Amino acid sequence: MNFNLKNDQQEMFDLALKFAKNEMIPVAREHDEKETFPKAIIEKAWELGFVNTCLPTEVGGNGFGLLDAVTIGEALSYGCMGMYTSIMCNDLALTPIVIGGSTEQKEKFLKPFTEKPILASFCLTEPGSGSDAAGLKTTIKDNGDHYLLNGSKMWITNAGYADLLLVYCTIDPNLKHKGICALVVPAHLEGITLGKKEEKMGQRCSDTRSVQFENVKVPKENLLGKEGDGWKIAMKTLDHSRPLVSSIALGGARRAIECATEYAKERKQFGVPIAKHQAIQFMLADMTMKLDASRLLVQKAAWQADEGIPNTRAASAGKAMAADSCMQITTDAVQIFGGYGYSREYPVEKLMRDAKLIQIYEGTSQIQRLVIAKDILGK
Ligand code: CAA
Repeated sequence: MNFNLKNDQQEMFDLALKFAKNEMIPVAREHDEKETFPKAIIEKAWELGFVNTCLPTEVGGNGFGLLDAVTIGEALSYGCMGMYTSIMCNDLALTPIVIGGSTEQKEKFLKPFTEKPILASFCLTEPGSGSDAAGLKTTIKDNGDHYLLNGSKMWITNAGYADLLLVYCTIDPNLKHKGICALVVPAHLEGITLGKKEEKMGQRCSDTRSVQFENVKVPKENLLGKEGDGWKIAMKTLDHSRPLVSSIALGGARRAIECATEYAKERKQFGVPIAKHQAIQFMLADMTMKLDASRLLVQKAAWQADEGIPNTRAASAGKAMAADSCMQITTDAVQIFGGYGYSREYPVEKLMRDAKLIQIYEGTSQIQRLVIAKDILGK
């Protein structure tokens, strides 16, 4: 076994970390405070090849593996977890096309993303179906050469800026999993309306909205696979995207540990830097153990995907471990900073707020445990 990154992966990581430090961190606080979308950052990241990381070379993508992508994700999330959520959302929304699209669909829908810095949204969650994804109620009806799409989606990342929506819908809600379809929907079609930008606790720069569809006419050739193929496409997509989302936790935790370590060496109490107190040393040791263990699990899940090994269990284990660890690590960083940690002048309170979302989106920490338990126990 070899735990080292390859030279090109290490170079990518270093480049991404430099970008995070020089370009993202200087503007992250302002974007958070004003809740403004980091369009300029996303465009610069796109120029450097940090957006759409996993698009295949046949459509002009850079064809990175998932391990490459999570390495880049950790570095960019060190800069800002909310900004990277907006960046990685393209991989999430485009992966269903990579998995389930025909050659023509890949050429038509994916290629534009390699030519200009445009965005896509993954529309699975609905007001009434979050964890129970198969309970979705957005429907399509056959209407000749097109479908009529009706329904509502909720908590859709990048919705206000997306050119393309990957919409999960059903031909009949009673069919549950077996009726679900994955449909590529251009965001400008008539009948699509967006809700207001949600006011969130953390990751406030990322754009999160509801999306309504009212008799939207979508060409039939935009369906991925056959009617009813959507569920498997969604689940396989989540196997791919959960390590990416986990990398957000790795980056946030890495930053929190660095901030807390630096602060502990400077801040004096009882006549010595607080890093000299064993209470603080043990906290830093626990934080580092949790991050190292999370990274191993996340990288394993990504490596399995690259090797073509089923990674559902590892993807969920990595996601739960990394998200829960990041929450604990960022909370402990605030604790080490004491009163200063609670102040918005210091970076760790934002890290703690941003971390909370990782335990919720892309499958809650509880859903990840459910997936792992199903894998252990069988049907
Ligand atoms: N790959 C292939 N097939 C899979 C699969 C996988 N990973 N997982 C399940 N399946 C198959 C099962 O084998 C089963 O197949 P058969 O019918 O042929 O037996 C079928 O799918 C149904 O599986 P389950 O019985 O396990 O389905 P379920 O309804 O009990 O729930 C769940 C499964 C894992 C809980 C799923 O609903 C889930 O993942 N929920 C969480 C949703 C989620 O993660 N949403 C994230 C939204 S996106 C987001 O948050 C992004 C963002 O903002 C940035």
